[in-house]
Amino acid sequence: MLRLSAAVFAILFAGAAPAADYGLLVNEPGAEVTYYSCIQCHSERIIAQQGLTRDRWADLLVWMVEEQGMQPLDEEDREIILDYLSTHYNTDRPNFPR
Ligand code: HEC
Repeated sequence: MLRLSAAVFAILFAGAAPAADYGLLVNEPGAEVTYYSCIQCHSERIIAQQGLTRDRWADLLVWMVEEQGMQPLDEEDREIILDYLSTHYNTDRPNFPR
């Protein structure tokens, strides 16, 4: 029980912690894995200024692997990244960097 409440506290506390820094990427669920998977070769600005549907992001990840030498993502990370990108960097470009 003590252990459980400590875990709950840790979750609540993490939620209230100061925003982590993912550069230009919006700090929402999925930002961390996106940031660390994608900034090895280029700035996150190239991502933040893009606005694509989920399908086109999926195609872009294939292109990143086949043509640009990105390590293939595991399925779980790929889903998280695609959810993140298509939510925050879709065609309406809600987070276009200024
Ligand atoms: C292994 C290196 C590497 C990794 C890792 C990588 N990229 Fe790239 N990416 C590139 C290169 C190289 C280019 C530039 C290609 C060009 O313009 O010819 C690029 C270009 C891009 C572009 C611009 C495409 C355009 O139309 O101009 C976007 C968006 C992008 N990457 C997104 C991502 C995302 C999202 C991830 C993480 C899932 C990622 N990249 C990971 C190498 C990488």
